[in-house]
Amino acid sequence: MRYIKVDSYEIMSRKAAAIIAAEIVRKPNCVIGLATGSTPLGTYAQLIEWNKKGDLDFSEVTSVNLDEYYGLDASNDQSYRYFMNTNLFDHINIDKANTYVPNGIADDIDAECAAYDKRIEDFGGIDIQLLGIGPDGHIGFNEPDTCFVKPTHKVTLDASTIEANSRFFNDISEVPTSAVTMGMGAIMGAKKVILIANGLNKKEIMEKAFFGPIDPQVPASILQLHPDVTVIYTEKNPVK
Ligand code: F6R
Repeated sequence: MRYIKVDSYEIMSRKAAAIIAAEIVRKPNCVIGLATGSTPLGTYAQLIEWNKKGDLDFSEVTSVNLDEYYGLDASNDQSYRYFMNTNLFDHINIDKANTYVPNGIADDIDAECAAYDKRIEDFGGIDIQLLGIGPDGHIGFNEPDTCFVKPTHKVTLDASTIEANSRFFNDISEVPTSAVTMGMGAIMGAKKVILIANGLNKKEIMEKAFFGPIDPQVPASILQLHPDVTVIYTEKNPVK
């Protein structure tokens, strides 16, 4: 594991973008795993800038997202599909047909989850997976549990996750209470993993996850077993 502590959100974002860009240059048709949330916004802004300058080509890239709220469709501006379109896909030359986000409104959620894993397997796995971390140590929406759950699955969100994500909604009562998330199997099967985190509110969980015991109560701690993980952390928040 490479654990890099940096002095600003902007440096964290540029480093993460550089690692992703290097993978796309090395393998133009790579499969990248993507996250939503506040943390990757700077990374996505940097990738957009390089794409607009003509330095980075997404035309052959495939993306798979970690998660989606259960019950929200793509047109809902709180859905993760909407987030990805507006914060990344609409601004780069990726073919949207090659971008995948779990379908949170599938009639048969179990079949949707199985198909999501099968698709990733058919791609030959994920080449590079970008992750954030929740205040409770979740990655994707793999919440603290008694075991690490391997397949893509539907999950009930923890109260702390609902509380943390309520900042994006008008009212906490509007936050969905469940989600569909990629499981630890696809995440740990990714050839490379980058986890980014910022802010003093993540300091304690970062220490637990990467310097404490491997424990399903701290889901990100499983990454200590991954052969190629880069963690980039800054105590600082973005300069507004
Ligand atoms: C989002 C995801 C989550 C977030 C985590 C941190 O797709 O998988 O695990 O990465 O909740 O969110 P932020 O970046 O908003 O602090």
